[in-house]
Amino acid sequence: MDKSASLPLQFNQTAEFKALTEHFNDIQPVKMNQQFKDDAGRFDQFGLHAAGLNLDFSKNRITSETIQLLTQLARACDLPQSIKGMFNGELINQSEGRPALHTALRNFSAEPVLVDGKNVMPEVQKTLTRMKEFCWSIRSHQWRGFSNKPFTDVVSIGIGGSFLGPKLASEALKPYWSKQINCHYLANIDGSDLTEVLQGLNPETTLFIVQSKSFNTQETLKNALACREWFLNNGGTKEYLARHFSAVTANVPTAIEFGIAPQNIFPMWDWVGGRYSLWSAIGLPLMLAIGYEHFREMLLGAYEMDCHFKEAPLEQNMPVIMGLLGVWYVNFFDAQSHAVLPYDHYLRNLPSHIQQLDMESNGKSVDTYGRALNYQAGPIIWGGVGSNGQHAYHQLLHQGTQFAPCDFILPLTTHNPVDNFHALLASNCFSQSQALMQGKNLQQAQAELKAVGKSDDEIKVIAPQKVIPGNRPSNTLYFDKSTPKAVGALIALYEHKVFVQGQIWGVNSFDQWGVELGKQLGDKVHECLLAEECIGEDMGFDVSTSGLIKAFRSMQDKL
Ligand code: F6P
Repeated sequence: MDKSASLPLQFNQTAEFKALTEHFNDIQPVKMNQQFKDDAGRFDQFGLHAAGLNLDFSKNRITSETIQLLTQLARACDLPQSIKGMFNGELINQSEGRPALHTALRNFSAEPVLVDGKNVMPEVQKTLTRMKEFCWSIRSHQWRGFSNKPFTDVVSIGIGGSFLGPKLASEALKPYWSKQINCHYLANIDGSDLTEVLQGLNPETTLFIVQSKSFNTQETLKNALACREWFLNNGGTKEYLARHFSAVTANVPTAIEFGIAPQNIFPMWDWVGGRYSLWSAIGLPLMLAIGYEHFREMLLGAYEMDCHFKEAPLEQNMPVIMGLLGVWYVNFFDAQSHAVLPYDHYLRNLPSHIQQLDMESNGKSVDTYGRALNYQAGPIIWGGVGSNGQHAYHQLLHQGTQFAPCDFILPLTTHNPVDNFHALLASNCFSQSQALMQGKNLQQAQAELKAVGKSDDEIKVIAPQKVIPGNRPSNTLYFDKSTPKAVGALIALYEHKVFVQGQIWGVNSFDQWGVELGKQLGDKVHECLLAEECIGEDMGFDVSTSGLIKAFRSMQDKL
């Protein structure tokens, strides 16, 4: 019997998808400009508030019917049950047979969270208490370096989720750093990254945290070894390694083998994915910088978003609406990418974190039943801080043939009031989404050119090049201030948005098999780059890889 017949329909085979397709044909020609003219209540109608965040999604290619049809599609994909399943520890990371319980790390309820029948909350709370004590002992100067000086710098050695989340949160919460501990992040297997990070640091007052769930990531292990060499070559001794090196990992034996003192190892669990691990001991560098109380506030913000995600009806559910709007653009408007545009200096690294969160989760082409997708799934995530982007890539957003829905993100107040800067930043943010929606038609372009005295012939040629199509959708997320709570809620919002989309597309958002091949091939290339005698073709490389190896080797020979 054809087993596929008993499997759930892929979402684009459902009646709800068909209804949306028909709806798309009706709505495709509709201009948002006109919708705003026709409905003064549009901003209120398409606005949501949750966990201290506000979402204006009125500048989208939607009507209330669109939202109704999208949420019907979500129900057809069993989203409400999937949300419950994630929080209840179901093995939703099917290919690795694991739950995805990053939400347990910020569970402020008295509810137990069971993994293999065992409540993991005591262990989560014990680890958080250990983190608090560790940070207190360092920030209070009780734990000092080998020359008995207080620590001044912490170097977090990690990559991917062991880097991007903590770095984003550290930078986002820079206003909350105590003046005594500076956070540095070392990720890349690049001597320049290592050199730049260590430059100017004092081994007497530098603490290293090796952040690696697997404790088997090439970049992290190499960097950790190099930092240990640096420490030992600059006054440190093996005896003092225990004072200056700690680790966060799910692989404790290997960390001990590396030379990390057992008492300095903080656990990670296999039911927390790397890109979802900021809330775990991976957040130690952040807690060292901002202190336990502010870290706890960040956890609380994420928890409040979790409660909203669990409890709000789909139609009023912020992560659900953002996720469904993304599906609407990817699968009906053929959007290939999505732009994240924080209008806040401290949130400038948010796009990089969301890139991993989204693209490593939903950058898949096979569903959880092993079926190839015959539809698009995860979009390319890109973006950057505003208003800088307006002088870099907004041209494409406004007039390009490509189409990229945008998330504008703005704290309504700034940590650093200067003159009227924040009003100017906000006006840039609001006017960009307005321009994307409103555009500029040919008549307007012609009138502008006429007004500056251009000839008819000039206007004939230039006016069409000044037309801005408009009708390009965006969300605007805004909140009072970029506080630990707001940052926690914001990151959790995107985690849940990614989950919603993964469920609709039927992919496993919690594994990342795609990164394995590059690592495997890299070992053989590396071997050939350094071997005494190595002729690429003899090692079965394609001629491109062989040519590149030869170029590298010949350059090394010249040094
Ligand atoms: O990119 C692959 C990946 O496994 C990510 O998922 C992870 O965050 C990163 O590498 C680092 O892994 P680890 O924390 O095990 O060193």
